[in-house]
Amino acid sequence: RIAYVNGRYVPHAQAQVHVEDRGYQFSDGVYEVCEVSGGFIIDRTRHLDRLDRSLSELAMAWPVGRDALGRIMIEVTSRNRVRDGLVYLQVTRGVARRDHPFPPPGTPTALVVTAKSTDRRAFAEKAEKGVAVITVPDNRWDRVDIKTIGLLPNVLARQQARDSGAAEAWMIDEDGMVTEGAATNAWIVTMDNVLVTRPAENGILRGVTRATALEAAAKLGLAVEERGFTVAEAMAAREAFMTSATSQIMPVTSIDGAPVANGHPGETARQLGRAFFGAAE
Ligand code: PDD
Repeated sequence: RIAYVNGRYVPHAQAQVHVEDRGYQFSDGVYEVCEVSGGFIIDRTRHLDRLDRSLSELAMAWPVGRDALGRIMIEVTSRNRVRDGLVYLQVTRGVARRDHPFPPPGTPTALVVTAKSTDRRAFAEKAEKGVAVITVPDNRWDRVDIKTIGLLPNVLARQQARDSGAAEAWMIDEDGMVTEGAATNAWIVTMDNVLVTRPAENGILRGVTRATALEAAAKLGLAVEERGFTVAEAMAAREAFMTSATSQIMPVTSIDGAPVANGHPGETARQLGRAFFGAAE
């Protein structure tokens, strides 16, 4: 495998960053994960738009131009011969002697890009069965709209999910509403067949897959409400599912050990999953 590290393509085993990289010391960086399907990077424009927003919210400079980054992502994908998989990119505020405020002006931001193949068949089997989620309190900061590499609450929530034999942890805010998963956005389909997902403006990451799924839902003529929902509402729903670059449209068939509806993936998730590639271009 080959990785891109600050201007060089290097063997993955030798891909290293400096001990004083601010990502390493302060989690002072942002990232994107993009799905690769059939050798194409899905929703690249939306990912680069979100990266632009994350960088600007943290007053970080682009490490290379936007077009150059797009080319590097394609290059890393093709050098690793990825047909179905993921591209990961990370930008940190660079290497500087440890000091909390920003490093001196002119310190270049650091860029790492990797790509890996994923097992399409194993994924399809998982989607066929659906996955379990648990619920945990959302104890994150209030800028979860920025896709930062500071992911400790997400890491702990996902580990708790794994320890419980679940695939994801849905986070619950102080009002008892589901915000999102540790690394996915959360959705339900009500008994009246309305798709419900929390508004992007409030307490969640603006998922690229979420946006694409909303487009697909509109094309399919499905009713959608962007609003919060409670765990009780999710447990009483016709369907539940989660979305992300890594999970695509993944049916959720149990919440805290209780089945959602009949405990099998629902028709809406399946329909959206089929429409997804068409909508994602
Ligand atoms: N996670 N919410 C959170 C907290 C996320 O970390 C992610 C993505 C999403 C879904 O966003 P998108 O559809 O753009 O992937 C929602 C990535 C995949 C990760 O951290 O691995």
